[in-house]
Amino acid sequence: MSRPKIVAGNWKMNKTLSEAKQLVQSIIQAFNEFDDVIKIIIPPFPFITSTVELLSGASNIYIGAQNCSTHTSGAYTGEVSATMLQSVGCRYVLVGHSERRQYFSEQASDFKEKLQQAFTNNLTPIYCIGEKLEQRKTNTHFSYVQQQLDDVVKDFSPEQFQKIIIAYEPVWAIGTGETATPHQAQEMHAFIRSHIETVFGRAIAQQLPILYGGSCNAQNAQELFKCADVDGGLIGGASLKAEEFCQISKSF
Ligand code: PGA
Repeated sequence: MSRPKIVAGNWKMNKTLSEAKQLVQSIIQAFNEFDDVIKIIIPPFPFITSTVELLSGASNIYIGAQNCSTHTSGAYTGEVSATMLQSVGCRYVLVGHSERRQYFSEQASDFKEKLQQAFTNNLTPIYCIGEKLEQRKTNTHFSYVQQQLDDVVKDFSPEQFQKIIIAYEPVWAIGTGETATPHQAQEMHAFIRSHIETVFGRAIAQQLPILYGGSCNAQNAQELFKCADVDGGLIGGASLKAEEFCQISKSF
């Protein structure tokens, strides 16, 4: 079964508007040849509209958001709804990123609501999971990741779950320069896929895109993307450089 190849660039809280526009323009130039890789740019909220405008006509490059509200609309100062994101041209949204878990105390109940918001508004959620160093060291990383899946999966129908993307991002590898080895990544991706198979069956598990994230860059992407169950990457730091992001997307 062939799954889509995907590279998503999470810009996090970086860039000003003029820098963001420059980066998008450089990305468009760098990706001047058509290929079958789905590219997703995930800028901060204020830059989404200009990014969508700049990308109109660019093939196979889509926009995502870094977060969305658990609420639909109303008196929730500072929140951004999935409906709003959809209305400005977003196609994807991150849910459960480890920085949201760690710094903003988001938890399973939030993720279930955010995933529901994404599905209702026709956004593809990228649900991020991954163990911390302490679980890796105590060899509890598989059960930890399984729990992060179980936290949400049972609330969704197979039809909904068919539209999700999973990103496995070991927390110890995010922004640290330390990457999971291809063996570690493959082992966990295969585990995630087999767990999803037990819940939703083989067909859904086989078509589920699972991205690797955590210090993925132009040097290590090829080895990681070669792994049978690694369908691409969620890239942080290295997505802020157009050439490198493009190089990563050519690493399949
Ligand atoms: P990194 O971030 O590539 O800078 O490690 C990945 C992520 O947080 O999605």
